[in-house]
Amino acid sequence: MKNIVLTGFMGAGKSSVGRKLAEKLEMGVVDTDDIIEKNAGMKISQIFEKFGEPHFRELEKKAVAEASKLENHVIITGGGVVLKEENMKNLRKNGIIVYLHAKPEVLHSRIKHESHRPLLQVKEPIKKIKELLEYRAPFYANNDFMIDASELTVEEVVEEILKKLE
Ligand code: S3P
Repeated sequence: MKNIVLTGFMGAGKSSVGRKLAEKLEMGVVDTDDIIEKNAGMKISQIFEKFGEPHFRELEKKAVAEASKLENHVIITGGGVVLKEENMKNLRKNGIIVYLHAKPEVLHSRIKHESHRPLLQVKEPIKKIKELLEYRAPFYANNDFMIDASELTVEEVVEEILKKLE
């Protein structure tokens, strides 16, 4: 079976949905953020702090290339993976791209008590979320199908994905 690649903004639910989906389909599961942290031996927040975002994006590119070689896996991607065409080309080779969308207010309510996402450690995270979402919209549009997860539970999103895959 082809890989199923989950894209979407921070807080869209990619991790919870991806793990549940993999369980249901009896597929492997991998998260590009985990690969980056494992390869670098550091947390993502430390990578941003020490080396900056451009360096993080290079490590991310390598992690995506690594994940793209897998088969029969759900690949959970970091929210910015879509920004590099090379990443999407790699993921598409053997993968179906699913975009998990959610409204800025929903994303904000999910991430507001978390501190591990350097891009959202700002004074007005909701404003930042809106700006980034607007900028990234054409990149997230690079998908085979999308699910609006704003009003859905993890189980419901998984069901929607399974229906679309039929
Ligand atoms: C990022 C999303 C994060 C992580 C990094 C950058 C982004 O992953 O890769 O903090 O640019 O949207 P999640 O989407 O899993 O939070």
